[in-house]
Amino acid sequence: MSKKPVRVAVTGAAGQIGYALLFRIASGEMLGKDQPVILQLLEIPDEKAQKALKGVMMELEDCAFPLLAGMEAHSDPMTGFKDTDYALLVGARPRGPGMERKDLLSANAQIFTAQGKALNAVASRNVKVLVVGNPANTNAYIAMKSAPDLPAKNFTAMLRLDHNRAASQIAAKTGKPVSSIEKLCVWGNHSPTMYADYRFATIDGQSVKELINDEDWNRNVFLPTVGKRGAAIIEARGLSSAASAANAAIDHMRDWALGTNGKWVTMGVPSNGEYGIPQETMFGFPVTCEGGEYKIVEGLPIDEFSQERINITLKELQEEQDGVKHLL
Ligand code: NAD
Ligand code: LMR
Repeated sequence: MSKKPVRVAVTGAAGQIGYALLFRIASGEMLGKDQPVILQLLEIPDEKAQKALKGVMMELEDCAFPLLAGMEAHSDPMTGFKDTDYALLVGARPRGPGMERKDLLSANAQIFTAQGKALNAVASRNVKVLVVGNPANTNAYIAMKSAPDLPAKNFTAMLRLDHNRAASQIAAKTGKPVSSIEKLCVWGNHSPTMYADYRFATIDGQSVKELINDEDWNRNVFLPTVGKRGAAIIEARGLSSAASAANAAIDHMRDWALGTNGKWVTMGVPSNGEYGIPQETMFGFPVTCEGGEYKIVEGLPIDEFSQERINITLKELQEEQDGVKHLL
């Protein structure tokens, strides 16, 4: 017997990430090839955006996806998030050349307050929320704080693109396949302060740190390359990353929903005090997922350099959070 359809809400559905994301969700790449989905698509009320959304929905129709059990267009999160099981909050203003994520903070704070309140009011009580729109960690924090009746752990921010970027750099450096890399993680904020950490990583059981054996490369090539990759893509494309961001969103939700088989992945999740990160800070941590729940990998040793890097990204996140406190 086929499974009951689940409801997947996507905001910013007519944007560039939306265009790279929706077809993959509808084809079963996110929640499994046996899981029908109903797409609840949200765009701003603007006529042009709604018209573009209709066009995307026409294309979704034309794919005749067997798993696409329904589709709705919305401009109000109070209707768009009704009974939703998975919410991918993508819609926000993307960063242009020369802008930092912090610049986008107040414009986006309003969006995520309204969306958090709507999720609180109408979404499934088990809704899994992924915030992609930047500044992703702080937007996720705002949505979480605006939804007091939902469990805080249901709100997450996307660090998976950073994780995937780090994996890809390590694969290129070592000449080993990406799929062979285990126990990699990225700590902190989805911003250039993030700390991509391969101290625990292994390839076929061998330590990546020993394989690479080049601390200068770690500090002066790897970390800046991963940290500034978003800006490098904007510089090259004139637009922020979209297909790779959509891919990371699929990876994040799939792993959360279907499990990682013990493999570590990185998710931005509210801290419970792990590694001295203050409660509720939406922080990138190594996690494993099983049975629809994520679990922070605990007890890892943090050396002096790593602690310094973690402190820098934490400080930035705390400043962002302080900057929006008056809106909560
Ligand atoms: P885009 O401008 O192409 O699309 C965004 C869409 O969101 C637009 O169609 C816009 O009308 C819509 N939108 C804006 N406010 C909305 C709201 N309140 N409700 C519903 N829809 C709304 O942008 P994009 O390239 O798709 O990027 C979207 C966001 O994702 C940006 O904030 C970008 O910086 C961020 N991003 C994050 C990561 C990450 O790793 N976390 C990676 C890449 C991009
Ligand atoms: C990215 O990492 O590609 C996105 O967050 C876009 C950006 O602004 O860097």
